Amino acid sequence: MSGRYAFFKGRIVPIEEAVISVRTHAFNYGTGVFEGIRAYWNEEEQQLFIFRPREHYERLLASARMLLMSFPYTPDDLTRITVELLQKEGYREDVYIRPIAYKADEVIGVRLHNLKEELTIWTTPFGHYIEREAAHVMVSSWRRINDNAIPARSKITGAYVNSALAKSEAMLNGFDEAIVLTEDGHVAEGSAENLFIIRNGVLITPPVTDEILEGITRRTLIELAHNELGIPTVERHIDRTELYYADEMFLCGTGVQLVPVVSVDRRPVGNGEIGPITRRLHDLYFDVVRGKVPKYRGWCVPVYVPEPVGAARG
Ligand SMILES: Cc1ncc(COP(=O)(O)O)c(C=O)c1O
Repeated sequence: MSGRYAFFKGRIVPIEEAVISVRTHAFNYGTGVFEGIRAYWNEEEQQLFIFRPREHYERLLASARMLLMSFPYTPDDLTRITVELLQKEGYREDVYIRPIAYKADEVIGVRLHNLKEELTIWTTPFGHYIEREAAHVMVSSWRRINDNAIPARSKITGAYVNSALAKSEAMLNGFDEAIVLTEDGHVAEGSAENLFIIRNGVLITPPVTDEILEGITRRTLIELAHNELGIPTVERHIDRTELYYADEMFLCGTGVQLVPVVSVDRRPVGNGEIGPITRRLHDLYFDVVRGKVPKYRGWCVPVYVPEPVGAARG
C-alpha cells in the first residue's frame, strides 16, 4: 500500500491529485532528478525518524542544478515539508520517501534550458530492497555510465536505465544484484548501491571519481567504521579480480541499507559466509538509523512531536 498524500505543485494533496500529463518533458526524455530517503519507526519511543534528510535534499538540489533547475527551497524547507507529509500519513512503520524534481513543460524538444520545473514528494511503507540476508552478485556485462556521458554523481531519472539493464541481467541470471564496472574496467558500484570490500581488516571502496553516486550511506559507514570500530577506509580503484580476493564485501545505500555479499560470479567471498566486520557494521547501522545511538541522534529527524511528560493519555 502506498501513501495517501503527496507534496505536489507546492502543496500537500491527496495522492490521486498528484498526476502528470503524458506530454511531460521528464516522462518523454528522462529529465528528472530524484532521491530515496528512509524513515525508521522506533517502537520504544513511538517515533518515526527520517535519516539524514538534509544531506539527501542537498544532493537533490545539486542534481537539480546539474539539469539547470533551480528551486526556492532550502534543504531545511524540504525537510520540514517531508515532516509535514509524514505527519499527515501517520505512519507507524518503516517508510521510503521519494522526492523528484522534473522538467514539467509539455513540449517536444530535447534540451535542458527554458523549461519550467516542478518538485514532488511521495512516500510508501517499505521493507527490504534485497529480500535475502546476504546477496549473490555477478559482474555485469553493462558498463557504468561515464561522467562525460551522464554523470553518475547526479541522481538523474534517465540514467537509471543503466542500473535497470544491469539489475535485470543479474536477476534473470539467478543473482540478487549486479556490480558494474567503469569503462576502464574498475569496480564502480552496484546497480543502486555503493560497494565496499574488506581486505586484511581494511575497508576499501571506489573513490567518488569512479562513476559512483556519492552515497550518503557510504559516507555514514565510513564515519561509523572509523569512529566506532577503529577501522579505516581506503578510497581507491578496485580491480575486478579483487572482488574474488576480498575477505568480506557488502553493498550499501538507502534502499538496500547494508547487505552482505557472499558470492561474486559464483566464487565465495571469504569463506562464503557473512564476515565479522560486515556484521558489526550492519548491526551498528540499524541502531543508528532507528535513533538508538545518542551520539548520532543528530542524523535522525523526528516526525512526531513527543507528548509532554506526564500528559494524560486517552
Ligand atoms: C547508483 C546508486 N549508487 C549508490 C546509492 C546509494 O546512495 P545513498 O546511500 O545516498 O542512498 C544509490 C541509492 O540511492 C544509487 O542509486
